[in-house]
Amino acid sequence: MQWAKIFARVKYNLAVSGVPNYPLSALPVRIEDLEITGDSYYGYEPLQQVIAQKHSVNASQVFFTLGTSMANHIAMAVTTQPGDDILIEQPTYELLLATARYLEANVNRFPRHYDNGFQINPDDVRKSITPKTKLIALTNLHNPSSAYTDEKTLGEIGSIAERIGAQVLVDEVYLDSAFDLNPRSSARLGNNFIVTNSLTKVYGLSGIRCGWVIAQPELTQKMWHLNDLFYVNHVHLAERLSLIAFQNLDEIKAWSCNILDQNHKLLNDFLNSRDDLEAYRPGFGTVVFPRLKNGKVDELSEILINKYETAIVPGKYFEMPNYFRIGLSCKPDIFQAGIENIDKALNDLTHS
Ligand SMILES: Cc1ncc(COP(=O)(O)O)c(C=O)c1O
Repeated sequence: MQWAKIFARVKYNLAVSGVPNYPLSALPVRIEDLEITGDSYYGYEPLQQVIAQKHSVNASQVFFTLGTSMANHIAMAVTTQPGDDILIEQPTYELLLATARYLEANVNRFPRHYDNGFQINPDDVRKSITPKTKLIALTNLHNPSSAYTDEKTLGEIGSIAERIGAQVLVDEVYLDSAFDLNPRSSARLGNNFIVTNSLTKVYGLSGIRCGWVIAQPELTQKMWHLNDLFYVNHVHLAERLSLIAFQNLDEIKAWSCNILDQNHKLLNDFLNSRDDLEAYRPGFGTVVFPRLKNGKVDELSEILINKYETAIVPGKYFEMPNYFRIGLSCKPDIFQAGIENIDKALNDLTHS
């Protein structure tokens, strides 16, 4: 995260995983729909309702918070004690690991392999659980590969967890970017599923930090009480804006889909043209995770930043140093220039 905030701030930033910022001026905001302080103690009721509807659950199962980051933190904090085991996919979003370690859990891993499209094999999960496993955590869509985990696989993971009294945390922050699959949230797959999500990545609304957790009411109660230690109430203005965003989600989604569709086409042409890269390509999602067959990704990244003002995320941040992550979510003209720069940097690397 520090690397992304400090070093990846270049003209062609293909290190980002969320679509460009959706402008406030594009939302039909009326001043009378906004208020600085309001009736929001354990959730702002209208917002609780729309999030509950999105997931086909009751409002009591919604905990509203600051982005998926805080959602993951609080979800882990209420389901584990220091010394418990948390089983996390590998590779994964680095901050899931960091949060588990910050909470003094023991982190165990189950693998996701390039060779089978980064799919989860439930047998690997079964082999990796321990009697102390309290939580199994994964991302769907997968960060960094954008692989989609289907309901059958998730159901099997849910049963494995249930047998040892564990919960399954599914971070769905990228799920809505699988537009054509129209995937359903795993919130309804069983009482031991906990889902985290936000409007930050797929909807370009990072600035209002609209994030949430879906869990059983006894857990969301604990989350609200834990939240009283952190920041008591959410910023009400952001809750009001989040509600307006939800009421216009279809338009925002169409805008986002249009950007990602264009970039997926550009990406395909680029990957087809390079035999020094191989990549699992699901055809959806906001990121792709190619493998560099020869050469060092760190060198590629340095050439890109220093010579071409372009950033990618080196695979070392996902414990896979021969890979790198390309974000598909900048504006298409920037994306096109960015991948042209990757093309040039790959040629430089070959000739160096
Ligand atoms: C899998 C995953 N979860 C959560 C986050 C953080 O999301 P938010 O900006 O909603 O806090 C990210 C950011 O990159 C992510 O990749």
